[in-house]
Amino acid sequence: QLEKATNITWHDGTVSRDEREALMGHKGATIWMTGVSGAGKSTVAVALEQVLIQRRIHAYRLDGDNIRFGLNKNLGFSAADRAENIRRIGEVAKLFNDAGMVVTTSFISPYKDDRAKVRELHDKAGLTFIEAHINCTLEEAERRDPKGLYKKARSGEIKGFTGIDDPFEAPEKPELDLRTDVHSVKELVQIILDELEQRGVIP
Ligand code: PPS
Repeated sequence: QLEKATNITWHDGTVSRDEREALMGHKGATIWMTGVSGAGKSTVAVALEQVLIQRRIHAYRLDGDNIRFGLNKNLGFSAADRAENIRRIGEVAKLFNDAGMVVTTSFISPYKDDRAKVRELHDKAGLTFIEAHINCTLEEAERRDPKGLYKKARSGEIKGFTGIDDPFEAPEKPELDLRTDVHSVKELVQIILDELEQRGVIP
């Protein structure tokens, strides 16, 4: 348990969100992708980022494994560590979003409570938060098994693997329910772009 900071004061700047958006040419947003390992979170995020950048939208990806190499390298996969993982990513996403970027996060984020806290963080700051369930059946994710992790989880080599012996609490009302076993990546990217346009995030 880390110590809590004391004697700290919030300091406001003088640049408004409107000014920042005018500079960027669009609004900020957080597209929070949640889904089991192998569902396609990173694949969709990579394809979306590419299209957004081509459209001159300032987009940035925060990706599960990558963040665990750096910022969150001191965290494992216990419930407490996953909660802290998601809390930190939520704060980082909020900062990028506030800076005017369209940020995608691709973390399993298996627990409802942790995702609800991140949503609240954004809501309180008046920032756009779009929860996207990168959805495919567990059977399909296990069939794909791109990293061979389900196999290891089934054999007991990995303990506490999401979907096998650790829960994935699927979102009940995500803004987007994206079925990667039904739609192509291109179609899913288009659905997300439509949502961003409809919300007035991007022109
Ligand atoms: S979490 O639950 O949101 O904190 O997880 P995340 O940061 O997205 O990391 C998930 C990736 O870590 C690998 N991995 C595991 N996943 C689930 N459970 C266990 N026990 C585990 N151990 C390692 C796995 O490669 C996940 O990557 P993705 O991209 O989801 O396949």
